[in-house]
Amino acid sequence: VTLRIAVIGATGVVGREMIDCLQASDLDIADLRLFASPRSRGAELGFRGRALPCEVADELDGEERRAFDYALFAAGSDLSRRLVPTFLAAGVRVIDNASLYRMEAEVPLVVPEINLGAVKAHHQLIANPNCSTIIALMAVAPLQRAAGLRRLIAATYQAASGAGAAGLAELEHNLRQTEEGGSAATEVFGQNLASNLIPWIGPPGAEGEADCEEEQKLRRESRKILGLSDLEVSCTTVRVPVRRTHALALTIETESALAPEEAAALIEAAPGLALDRSRDPREIQTPQKVAGGDLVVVSRLRRAFESSPGLSLFVMGDQIRKGAAQNAVQILVGLAAGH
Ligand SMILES: NC(=O)c1ccc[n+]([C@@H]2O[C@H](COP(=O)([O-])OP(=O)(O)OC[C@H]3O[C@@H](n4cnc5c(N)ncnc54)[C@H](OP(=O)(O)O)[C@@H]3O)[C@@H](O)[C@H]2O)c1
Repeated sequence: VTLRIAVIGATGVVGREMIDCLQASDLDIADLRLFASPRSRGAELGFRGRALPCEVADELDGEERRAFDYALFAAGSDLSRRLVPTFLAAGVRVIDNASLYRMEAEVPLVVPEINLGAVKAHHQLIANPNCSTIIALMAVAPLQRAAGLRRLIAATYQAASGAGAAGLAELEHNLRQTEEGGSAATEVFGQNLASNLIPWIGPPGAEGEADCEEEQKLRRESRKILGLSDLEVSCTTVRVPVRRTHALALTIETESALAPEEAAALIEAAPGLALDRSRDPREIQTPQKVAGGDLVVVSRLRRAFESSPGLSLFVMGDQIRKGAAQNAVQILVGLAAGH
């Protein structure tokens, strides 16, 4: 089958990487059209040896939309609210990176290694989960399948590019200012992130809750993806001065005991996961080493408690690749193969 695909938000950090993932895939793509804001009109991005111009998403008419089989959105919730319904009305299947539709009951929220089966033939809109949630659950799901899951406790170490091109630019600027002695930019992160960390990400959560929205996303989306509606999730999300690759320190309480060696074997056997057994700071995997790849790397795997079943682990993944672009393209590959 040859595919006609639209990428909306093509010039952003996720959009650019989605083009790269599409390029590397085996998909037979007859037509790829790229869309962004009027700021990017005419800018060219490469795809399989051709230079494709960026068009303005709002200017597409219904007839043009009907020409697509799939639309990949990575332009934020405001644009998704406006344009996703117009693509759905034109009969296009949509995979959306924004958070807007993730918790809607009729919208599957998918990590292909875990729950591609949640997508049925009638589903036209599929949501890509939050980046930290994808990376955490890639490691947790094989352990849950083997030993059940009672509780998930997480602390995140989230990269600046998780806040898009503007977040990355602000960190770069502030790292330079640290050396040159200029004033720091604080528009994206609220404070200078260089040589610092900020233990709060995004807006406050729903009224009456002490968590920030990023923490609520991890709780709600984990419950939906794992199919555990009562799962207890305690999470603290922290922005750190790393360019790309999110990391999480996880502790899971399991239903039955799982020896660290059994857990290690499960992780080594799971697609998309790699295990780092290093006990040496000179060798252990870090965000810098993991950046740019599609594997989620698990290290520090060990027993969590002395007398009850559970494990602690450290998980890292490039949040632009597996945490967003690669996961979305994997969903597309699954849909194109008949899901
Ligand atoms: N960054 C991550 O690690 C990450 C991970 C998971 C999910 N996500 C989600 O993915 C989405 C994209 O994030 P990002 O980090 O790639 O953001 P970004 O770097 O800021 O890119 C945003 C993209 O949206 C386009 N855009 C903005 N306003 C537009 C408008 N009015 N009309 C058309 N296009 C418009 C931008 O075009 P211009 O270049 O022309 O402005 C750009 O292509 C967001 O929903 C985000 O929550 C991001």
